[in-house]
Amino acid sequence: MERTFIMLKPDAVQRGLVGEVINRFEKKGLKLVGMKLIQVDRALAEEHYAEHRGKGFFEPTVSYIMSSPVVAMVWEGKNGVALARELMGATNPANANPGSIRGMYGMDISRNVIHGSDSVASAEREIALYFRPEELADYVKAGEEWLSE
Ligand code: TYD
Ligand code: MG
Repeated sequence: MERTFIMLKPDAVQRGLVGEVINRFEKKGLKLVGMKLIQVDRALAEEHYAEHRGKGFFEPTVSYIMSSPVVAMVWEGKNGVALARELMGATNPANANPGSIRGMYGMDISRNVIHGSDSVASAEREIALYFRPEELADYVKAGEEWLSE
């Protein structure tokens, strides 16, 4: 089982897409293990996007995720990191599979609805940035036995 960090960005919260996106993760079979609505400050935003420091889109992207509340979540499941990236679709909604979250709900790369960790190492780093260990739930979810052998 892998855990991944997912953020519903300001556009998702403002546009009322929180329930839609959570629904897709739940229905796929991933398990929600942490969730909170937060206002990200500059230090956290810059740390979140640290790998992009120096690029042209760094400052606009940092400012953007600070601009309005976001929903920070941790989801768990078999191959969870790659699976979540599949559900999200390509970074640029214009190139995203039309059935993916970004493909269905996004119009522009700078307002692409959702963030998801791109590797197991990134997931560990990002989960630790947003959650204390005691904020993550360890539980058996009803129906888990119907998801895989
Ligand atoms: P990146 O990590 O490349 O994409 P992803 O979110 O799919 O992991 O980029 C981080 C965010 O930066 C991306 O979600 C939106 C923003 N961004 C731009 O605004 N313009 C760009 O050209 C790129 C590459 C990213
Ligand atoms: Mg990324």
